[in-house]
Amino acid sequence: MPLFLIHAALMATGFLFVLSALIVAKTQRRKPWWLKVHRAIGLTGGSLLLLGAVAAIAAVASTPEGQHLRSPHTWLGVLTVSTAIITPALGLLQFRIPRKAVTIRTVHRFFGRLLNILAPIAILLGLRVAEII
Ligand code: HEM
Ligand code: HEM
Repeated sequence: MPLFLIHAALMATGFLFVLSALIVAKTQRRKPWWLKVHRAIGLTGGSLLLLGAVAAIAAVASTPEGQHLRSPHTWLGVLTVSTAIITPALGLLQFRIPRKAVTIRTVHRFFGRLLNILAPIAILLGLRVAEII
């Protein structure tokens, strides 16, 4: 499979996972299992988005021009992937630094929502760059 297709597939799947993490946090908080599931799918989604970024860099590097970060999709992509690293990191960190848990939790919530806004826009821009839509 070409690297660009692997990139797109990893990003789309990663987005479905982080969206599910948000939905679980918003709707299943009364269930005893919510945090375990939220943590697992959040970490999986973040990892898939990171792998998708590695695939994108490799895909671009293998083109004749090999020029990185040259379009709005790629700039928004960097922002999205950064958010996908920061969000689960803050999710874990709130348990490591109890003194700052309230602040970290607030920022975690913000980044979790931001990620779920940026990722679908990045996907749409990616589909346009690839001339699929
Ligand atoms: C990319 C992955 C993740 C996303 C998108 C995400 C998103 C969110 C969102 C949107 C909320 C707030 C829900 C609301 O509005 O009530 C939330 C809450 C929470 N998340 Fe995550 N999260 C992720 C990963 C993690 C991880 C890895 C942990 C670690 C255990 C974690 C722990 C928590 C906790 C404890 C809360 C509850 C905070 C509260 O009491 O409001 N999250 N998450
Ligand atoms: C969450 C979703 C996505 C993110 C975060 C993302 C991120 C990125 C990043 C960071 C790059 C830059 C790689 C580099 O310059 O070295 C890139 C390139 C690219 N992505 Fe995505 N991507 C996403 C979804 C998609 C989708 C769904 C497609 C559709 C097939 C796609 C197609 C492309 C293409 C064609 C390039 C090369 C663009 C160019 O060289 O100007 N991406 N992406």
